[in-house]
Amino acid sequence: MTLPRVFVVGAGRAGRALAHAMRVAGVDVVGLHGRGEGIDITWGKFPSSLATATVVLVTVRDAELDGALSELAGASLSSEVVVLHASGSAEPAALDHLRALGHPCGTFHPLLPLTDPTRATEQLKHAWIGVDGDEDARAASRALAAAIGARVLEIPAGEKARYHAAAVFVSNFPVVLISVGARLLELAGVQDDSARGALGTLLTAAAQNALAMPPAQALTGPVVRGDVETVRAHLAALAETPEILELYRAMSREALPIAEQAGADSARLDELRRALS
Ligand SMILES: NC(=O)c1ccc[n+]([C@@H]2O[C@H](COP(=O)([O-])OP(=O)(O)OC[C@H]3O[C@@H](n4cnc5c(N)ncnc54)[C@H](OP(=O)(O)O)[C@@H]3O)[C@@H](O)[C@H]2O)c1
Repeated sequence: MTLPRVFVVGAGRAGRALAHAMRVAGVDVVGLHGRGEGIDITWGKFPSSLATATVVLVTVRDAELDGALSELAGASLSSEVVVLHASGSAEPAALDHLRALGHPCGTFHPLLPLTDPTRATEQLKHAWIGVDGDEDARAASRALAAAIGARVLEIPAGEKARYHAAAVFVSNFPVVLISVGARLLELAGVQDDSARGALGTLLTAAAQNALAMPPAQALTGPVVRGDVETVRAHLAALAETPEILELYRAMSREALPIAEQAGADSARLDELRRALS
């Protein structure tokens, strides 16, 4: 497939990062359209370059997606122009209108926390892009993903919310876990720079292990050791921070079946289950 000519609507973190990565990869990005002034960004009325695009990629926040797609529907684009959007969870109603106008529509959702464009360009080379939608839209997404070096994950029909929840677990919650760990160490009286340094190395090593081997082999800690007394001590220590206690219980309960697979003693696991319920 010849490389699409892309017009990006939404010049925030995702839009700027994707536009930059595509340009570096040699994709013809004919416009980056936002809502305010910026280098190489248009705003206000759509510029004439929109008419030269074969793909429009909409990268605005989910709540603003229907509005941005409706503006596009009013832009008299040629019907073969593919309309993609970058939301991992939204199924915007305005896509129905665009489809009625003949546009193939779909999702192009980078499974990556996009921050600054230069960093994202490198990270996208190893990333996966979640795609769904009409066949021509999926073909355009595959071509764009291949151009920037990324691979494609086909989102099963009707499963977008579950797909996106999985992405949130893996991309957002490690940030939350570091924040929880740092808070506990701070309450224990550890200096902030030592806390962040130590927790950072721990998280990196745990993530590397989790990716290098099956969960039953990668899991360490009191649950897989069947160490009921240590878990009880943790529960008591967390009583002053009930929201963290709740998290600890929920995460530890999820660790129980992994510990079972790892061959942990079943009587101890039963005792742990009772302590954690
Ligand atoms: N960032 C990520 O890590 C990431 C990763 C994968 C997918 N995504 C997806 O990408 C989308 C955007 O996320 P983001 O993080 O880039 O959000 P963001 O940084 O807030 O950027 C959204 C941008 O869209 C602009 N905008 C809103 N309505 C517009 C319109 N009608 N026309 C032109 N520009 C408009 C906003 O302008 P104002 O600032 O004036 O409101 C803002 O600059 C979301 O669907 C998100 O799920 C993001």
